[in-house]
Amino acid sequence: MALRPYVVGNWKMNGTRAMLAEARAIDRSAQRLMKVEVALAPPYTLIHAVHREAEQIGVGAQDCHPSADGAFTGDISAAMVADAGAKFVILGHSERREGHGETDALVRAKAEAALAAGLKLIVCCGESEQVRDEGRAERFVTAQLEASLPDEIDAADERLSVAYEPIWAIGTGRTPTVADIGAMHRAIRDLLVSRYGQDQGSAVRILYGGSVKPENARELLAADEVGGALVGGASLTAESFLGIVVAA
Ligand code: G3P
Repeated sequence: MALRPYVVGNWKMNGTRAMLAEARAIDRSAQRLMKVEVALAPPYTLIHAVHREAEQIGVGAQDCHPSADGAFTGDISAAMVADAGAKFVILGHSERREGHGETDALVRAKAEAALAAGLKLIVCCGESEQVRDEGRAERFVTAQLEASLPDEIDAADERLSVAYEPIWAIGTGRTPTVADIGAMHRAIRDLLVSRYGQDQGSAVRILYGGSVKPENARELLAADEVGGALVGGASLTAESFLGIVVAA
């Protein structure tokens, strides 16, 4: 059975308690839009508060540490975000890979830690503009993903999603063509099937992220093998985020 489209808002480093009203509005409308699975990843400081507001939507974290506990000042473990109410974690976002030097191996270690803590995963991948211009985007992205994914996963459809986010499309208003998104998502699907087998690999949702807006969501989400969207800027208000949910 095909899974519902999955639309996830990544609030990045945005949001204080004043933004809880947006989360509440998203949650209340999501109750009427049952054909779409809706989730928010607020900053750590709001996970518990959004979790308390949420009756319908899922709540997740934007990162976690690969260790269970210990002397890691300023870090947060997977068990801690789960304890705060998170049900999933976004891992390997390009802003973590670039801004914090996260390697594929570290992303994989975080993925294993998150699974051990009972969290679902959204593992991100994506190429730079230079890599795309050089014509090696698919090779780059599939290699990056291959090295970032956990070795084994039970019920892959339930516990794993992948987000393809071309770096040059994030927050820029530029997007790949529908054909390019479809080609990349098919390449990712092939990788998932060879990694986890036909049944599990076919069931993993592959989200597209990068300048998704209410105006372009219908077109982007109709691309081949697109199972939803990971949304940054347009997830910060209920109005624009719900516009994307409706399009999905
Ligand atoms: O994780 C979502 C993201 O990086 C896309 O951001 O602002 O282009 O929707 P944005």
